[in-house]
Amino acid sequence: MLSIKNLHATIGDKEILKGINLEVKAGEVHAIMGPNGAGKSTLASIIAGNENYEVTSGEISLDGEDLAELAPEERAHKGVFLSFQYPVEIPGVSVTNFIRTAINETRKAQGLEEMPANQMLKVIREKSELLEIDRKFLSRSLNEGFSGGEKKRNEIFQMAMLEPKLAILDETDSGLDIDALRIVASGVNKLKSDKNAVVIITHYQRLLDYIVPDFVHVLMDGKIVKSGDASLALELEEKGYDWIKQESFV
Ligand SMILES: Nc1ncnc2c1ncn2[C@@H]1O[C@H](COP(=O)(O)OP(=O)(O)OP(=O)(O)O)[C@@H](O)[C@H]1O
Ligand SMILES: [Mg+2]
Repeated sequence: MLSIKNLHATIGDKEILKGINLEVKAGEVHAIMGPNGAGKSTLASIIAGNENYEVTSGEISLDGEDLAELAPEERAHKGVFLSFQYPVEIPGVSVTNFIRTAINETRKAQGLEEMPANQMLKVIREKSELLEIDRKFLSRSLNEGFSGGEKKRNEIFQMAMLEPKLAILDETDSGLDIDALRIVASGVNKLKSDKNAVVIITHYQRLLDYIVPDFVHVLMDGKIVKSGDASLALELEEKGYDWIKQESFV
């Protein structure tokens, strides 16, 4: 589904990604871990099409289609979803209106009619119940005054509504209380299928107790320096990152 080959990217004259290779197949869950500043959010932003970064070499494709020439919204229409590490506040646009617009824009791009209002309401009700989101939130301005955890839960609500092919969750677990973590994780698990894939960026093994990854990758200094199965996350929790640094010098 997602194929990244030898991706190099810069911002200004600083090289941040230094040759990333990553293959994500449908039905898989990948976790990306790594120290602060390693380039994890940068990688997520570049997949989603953030134009502040310059891709200097390498390629990213989704189901065989090169993403390089596609604008962020075109990538979204093709099923790429990014849950932001720091969700932005949009005063004056309600959660419901935001999601309605996002869904209908995607449908339009796919040549479909707008979703009928009653069906939209039904789906909104179902998904907000799935994620135990208080109905009051749905009429509030997007993220405005939301607590950290409420913003993260709302990101997963958007994901649940959009049913993306490829969901990238950038530290969605940070700031969630223990109950919210379980609710968000079970939401992600319910949405998982053999047709979609999830890339989870996290600092904590804890989330991976709930959403068990097929692969764990360690991103350090702009490169994936180690990959393994779920047990790698446990090993990182125990030993930190230094041993990998040393290992990769040998
Ligand atoms: N606009 C920018 N200008 C300068 N440097 C930037 C810019 N954006 C990102 N960087 C740098 O790129 C590096 C990678 O940042 P990134 O946000 O991808 O790290 P991260 O792995 O997500 O870290 P964290 O775990 O703290 O979220 C950092 O050193 C950061 O300072
Ligand atoms: Mg980050």
